[in-house]
Amino acid sequence: MVGTGYLGTAHAVGMAQLGHDVIAMDIEEEKIARLSACELPFFEPGLGELLRKSVESGRLRFTTSYDDIAGADVHFVCVGTPQLPDSFNADLRWVETAFAELARRVAGPAIIVGKSTVPVGTARRMADVVREQAAGSLVEVAWNPEFLREGHAVQDTLQPDRLIFGVESRWAEKMLRAVYQSIIEDGCPLVVTDYATAELVKVSANTFLAMKISFINAVAQICEATGASVLPLAEALGYDERIGRRFLGPGLGFGGGCLPKDVRALCACATDLGLDAVATFIRQIDTVNLSRRDRALGIGRELLGGAYAGKRVCVLGAAFKPNTDDVRDSPAIAVGVAAHREGARVVMYDPVALNTARRMHPELEYGDTIVEAARDADLVMVLTDWTEFDDMNPALLSEVVRSRNVLDGRNALAPERWRAAGWTYRA
Ligand code: UDX
Repeated sequence: MVGTGYLGTAHAVGMAQLGHDVIAMDIEEEKIARLSACELPFFEPGLGELLRKSVESGRLRFTTSYDDIAGADVHFVCVGTPQLPDSFNADLRWVETAFAELARRVAGPAIIVGKSTVPVGTARRMADVVREQAAGSLVEVAWNPEFLREGHAVQDTLQPDRLIFGVESRWAEKMLRAVYQSIIEDGCPLVVTDYATAELVKVSANTFLAMKISFINAVAQICEATGASVLPLAEALGYDERIGRRFLGPGLGFGGGCLPKDVRALCACATDLGLDAVATFIRQIDTVNLSRRDRALGIGRELLGGAYAGKRVCVLGAAFKPNTDDVRDSPAIAVGVAAHREGARVVMYDPVALNTARRMHPELEYGDTIVEAARDADLVMVLTDWTEFDDMNPALLSEVVRSRNVLDGRNALAPERWRAAGWTYRA
């Protein structure tokens, strides 16, 4: 395994659980030291325990050296491909480095399998790099995209919805089939295809999910303007099996390390191909999504009587979604930071993401409990749908806030409970 971020760590543990002998490598020494000591560098339910089991069984080891992993039969490249700071394109430098370092060392027979999410055409280029370096020996490239969701990494790795193999030979397919044998035997659907299709499956899947969220949020705006209710509407749509209820949750929209960047990467791809109408279509998914943050900020401003300046705002939620401590492109943070910029004193609380949020946004204040964050607040904003927030007792919170104003950015609370306790509730 090359790269022990979210994906690489979950995959390394998953492969060890399947019975393989795994060695995972990362250039970050601190990360490797923590993982070797069975300490997860991020929050993920259930993964820490399996990490310990895998290490203790002797099937999972960690290293910072490419030389230590050169002898493996199967190499998974799981390094990050974040969005470039000045464009919609993905930054491929870590993928390129990983393939170049492996190509120089791997003697074969072996396969180098890309799992990172990359623009279409990358696998082909990496295969050329490997072929040039490994001339004469059997070293092949395959692409095997990963669909794991944060908060569900264990389940998504050990019982995936589907497996996608982008390969150029029967031999590479056979190698991958051997790796995933028990999962395939359990009936997991498998699609064997070419590199370009495998690369596009991943970004298309994430863009489709993003499109569902932006669709319901677009309809939510029409509901808001016409007095219709988006929640029963989403329920009604969801009964149509062709549509389905999942990812029709209206609210503050999507964030995280994947959906926003993958939508933008597919948009950049369409632009590069001269497919302007396609690029415009995809770009609107992002535009509608980002507009939800402005709308939440606007409703908050209305609840505060017209301005944030001098007000105290409690933001509940920092993570981009529940069950993770990941705050990358978090809608909750974006709204909190914007309120702070407009002059509010923002106090944020999150059940697990406080430390990651604090590191990235030292300008905000943080409370260790809901009550601490809500003390003397003029407005409470619920911006991540942790169940801890759904279960809050509005009567108890009434005793600590200055004004009973609540903005439910995730349609997660029961409005009638809050209204009955004297709160002005907006969603
Ligand atoms: C996503 C894909 O689901 C996963 O298959 C892929 O491998 C990686 O990207 P993840 O980033 O963990 O996974 O988050 P996901 O569960 O998809 O949620 C993305 C965002 O959409 C979150 O911010 C969430 O709050 C938001 N969301 C989700 C909504 O706003 N409404 C919904 O109905 C569903």
